[in-house]
Amino acid sequence: MYLLGIDIGSSSVKASILNGETGEIAGSSFFPKSEMTIVANHSGWAEQHPELWWDNLKLAIREALSLSNISGKEILAIGISYQMHGLVIVDKAQQVLRPSIIWCDSRATEIGNKAFRDIGNEPCLRTLLNSPGNFTASKLRWVKENEPALYEKIDKIMLPGDYIAMRLTGEVRTTASGLSEGIFWDFHKNGVSDLILDYYGFNPTLIPELVDTFGIQGHVSAEIAAELGLKSGTPIAYRAGDQPNNALSLNVLNPGEIAATAGTSGVVYGVSEEVKYDPQSRVNTFAHVNHAAGAVRLGVLLCINGTGILNSWMNKNAGNKSYSYEQMNDLAETVPAGSEGISMLPFGNGAERVLGNRNIGAQICGLDFNRHTQNHLFRAAQEGIVFSFKYGMDILNQIGIEAKVIRAGKANMFLSPVFRQTLANIAGVTIELYNTDGAAGAARGAGVGVGYYPSFADAFSGLKKLGIVEPDSKAIPAIREAYQRWESNLTRFLHQ
Ligand code: XUL
Repeated sequence: MYLLGIDIGSSSVKASILNGETGEIAGSSFFPKSEMTIVANHSGWAEQHPELWWDNLKLAIREALSLSNISGKEILAIGISYQMHGLVIVDKAQQVLRPSIIWCDSRATEIGNKAFRDIGNEPCLRTLLNSPGNFTASKLRWVKENEPALYEKIDKIMLPGDYIAMRLTGEVRTTASGLSEGIFWDFHKNGVSDLILDYYGFNPTLIPELVDTFGIQGHVSAEIAAELGLKSGTPIAYRAGDQPNNALSLNVLNPGEIAATAGTSGVVYGVSEEVKYDPQSRVNTFAHVNHAAGAVRLGVLLCINGTGILNSWMNKNAGNKSYSYEQMNDLAETVPAGSEGISMLPFGNGAERVLGNRNIGAQICGLDFNRHTQNHLFRAAQEGIVFSFKYGMDILNQIGIEAKVIRAGKANMFLSPVFRQTLANIAGVTIELYNTDGAAGAARGAGVGVGYYPSFADAFSGLKKLGIVEPDSKAIPAIREAYQRWESNLTRFLHQ
């Protein structure tokens, strides 16, 4: 029996077919083969057309099926993981009205800040657990203010994963977890927030019908099944934003457990059974995949927009595309910890929440033309990303989310020894690396949703620990010194 997991990322779309019995991946594919474009027609904007996700998803599903040597008819259920906070709008005919304004687009920051002031911090934090910030609801308000004719045509608004489910099933649906990441969810009343709908002037009919995160959310239509070689009526049995889904992939479901990712963006994600939030919304609290009205499970996360995207920028622009990421990691290792004086601030992918939604851009500080090489830049980029994680982890600490052990998939930047050792050293954490990723997690989520796995324990029996990274006490003083230098550079830019 097989389960199909889909992961709609910002740089690629992945499909993996999991053998439910063995927990092994039977076939996996991603498209496009070089990173997907993020369109920025103005500084701070970031858009992708949902059709691009859909076209790449079809290619990925077909290739994953052919690599797995199974028939698509053997797939029992489908799970979807998706880039969070994006806005997709469709008309009555389910036609997309404009490109998606994605998670790292900063255009709505001021709209969200004003809402926080006008509504008041206390009611926002008590019910929404966040400032409306730069999230989906504020993006929709931007459309209302700036593209009113288009706004009038909207029948439903969606998160990116809801759009993919709509294309597969023809049904427009969303989840409470999805609405929480869009800042449409009132945790107090356990329903859609009237506060935000009223303040922004949104008609409640714009919000799709709700389905559970795990459970039958719709069935693949006959037409799409024929196109993709799937069985007509295959259920979609799970969907979640990529960060709660990453935590699920790592079996991070209980209070005190911590997950991390370092893809285009980087996240440290803690699960809490108590309502915890940062009064300044520098870290965010959303509903976790297993959150329910009577059983509080919140995901509290720090997000660094400029994570793998900085490494990829380095690859293209400092490395002139001549190296693989593995070669870049090797070259970074030739430079001592602290990059001999370079501090890199990785904040070049829109407004950063840990900085109070400031967009200070990426900065390279301390560059010495007679001393530093491309290899120093490769290392400083990785250290700068880790330091921004540390900066955010200190905020998580202040609200009682403390990381001692972090679980991560052995993927993306966690493949880099410099990256993971620097994180273990500066944060004083043990990092456990597992044989999983977002698509595998979404497949397991679908197995839970369709009832194939009676419990989470059954779903995660195939999860294997591939390695452990412990802090190296000898290396800590050098990295602490580098962090202090990095932080004072950051302070300088924040006070400009
Ligand atoms: C999390 C966040 C990013 C996106 C990336 O809050 O904004 O990690 O989900 O896809």
